[in-house]
Amino acid sequence: MVQNILTATTPAGKTYRGHLRAMRQDMIGYLENLAQQGDFLRLPLGLGSAYFVNSPDLVQEILLKQARKFQKPFIVKYTAKEFFGENVFTSDGELWQVLRAVIQPAFHAQRLNAYASIMVDYTKAMISQWQPGQVIDIPKAMMNLTLGITTKALFGQDLRDDVAGQAIIRFIELFSQRLSRFPLPAWLPIPSNWEIKRQIAIIDRHLSPLIAERHQFFAEQDDVLSMLIQAQAADTTGLLTNQQIKNEVLNLFAAGYEVTAHTLAFTLYLISQHPEVEARLFDEIDQVLGQRALAVPDLEQMPYLEMVLKESMRLLPVTTVVSRKATEKVVLKGYTLPKNSLVFIAPWTLHRCPEYFPNPLGFDPERFHPDHKDKIPKFAYLPFSAGPRICTGNAFAMMQMRINLATICQDYRLTVTPEYQFEPFHSFNTRPKNGLPMTVNYRTLDLKG
Ligand code: HEM
Repeated sequence: MVQNILTATTPAGKTYRGHLRAMRQDMIGYLENLAQQGDFLRLPLGLGSAYFVNSPDLVQEILLKQARKFQKPFIVKYTAKEFFGENVFTSDGELWQVLRAVIQPAFHAQRLNAYASIMVDYTKAMISQWQPGQVIDIPKAMMNLTLGITTKALFGQDLRDDVAGQAIIRFIELFSQRLSRFPLPAWLPIPSNWEIKRQIAIIDRHLSPLIAERHQFFAEQDDVLSMLIQAQAADTTGLLTNQQIKNEVLNLFAAGYEVTAHTLAFTLYLISQHPEVEARLFDEIDQVLGQRALAVPDLEQMPYLEMVLKESMRLLPVTTVVSRKATEKVVLKGYTLPKNSLVFIAPWTLHRCPEYFPNPLGFDPERFHPDHKDKIPKFAYLPFSAGPRICTGNAFAMMQMRINLATICQDYRLTVTPEYQFEPFHSFNTRPKNGLPMTVNYRTLDLKG
């Protein structure tokens, strides 16, 4: 039984300032440094009690067994409330239960299958614009693709060329910046607040009439917005107001599109760096698809594609860190965390523990081979988090990314220039510091050449 735990140190010492400076300079380096000091540490962050947890059994306690004693922390709730109100990502208690119950069915297997043709068609449309030899900003291209798919699949409209689509992109950018910094009140008369409010007003001008129209015709539509409106009609709690529906719509974009796009970008980069993985993946895709368009049953015939994607999310998880606040005192490993303690769980460091992932820096999709994957403790691998707050969109994202990758790799091989240095950094999520420009080469021309 642990009664006392170590206080973590940084190169600049154990003080609050030392920790903040190390975090600000390089969050990923900071987390890796913590992981070397232990798997359960106290962090002197000047916010009451704060802890770093990096072991699967403790993660299981926090995210599953004692999950009801934890909430999303203040910074997430405050920033969201300030700008677009609570939603399924930020809320807790009764509101969260109502919202989760309404949203989850939108991501059930049969509904997902209905989105597959949108995912294939949009990916084909994107690559049909590519010219062999062209250098593409891959995160930007993937964000454009994902935004198109998300808006079409979930809300029945492709908003990319609409001013509302552009406003969503800008709003999410500004919102992520807010979450990675000190939370400033929305009433402060500063340019970034004006801009956020301006973007929200543009989105609102689009969403309000759309919601009003769906109130009349929801039975004829088969998308998430119509599901939310149907659920509103049956809601007895009074929590599912029109404003709440708007919050959810915005949140589903905020939660889904940027993380999916960066996961795709990281996977394309990792494939380009591992020729043996690339060759095996291309071979699987060629065997199963040849030149025809992908259909849902094909996904089951492509296990290596899924292994590659899972290994990419292990090595470069887009969600660097998940945080929670204790709503009451919690006992972990015999140690009592006081009420209001903050807890940080980092998929980034958990995924690099050599006990669970031998040769952790190696890119080895075999770890996720169906015959080996049971060796990985469930709470050591958290790309979508775990427990009751596991990502609602995980099956949607997994299906979309497999379709996007298979369709891209059917025709194209992507490469980076020899001078390119990949460097991940943390800004709310993991991103490539130097961008990720990749050259697209037509595969059949490559083979002929
Ligand atoms: C590769 C893509 C994705 C990754 C890596 C990812 C990751 C995550 C993670 C780690 C969480 C938990 C965060 C926490 O507890 O603090 C989460 C929650 C969530 N995600 Fe995702 N996500 C992805 C795609 C999506 C998509 C496509 C959607 C919806 C369209 C979505 C909707 C949500 C929602 C609504 C939550 C909040 C769930 C709750 O709190 O009950 N995500 N996601």
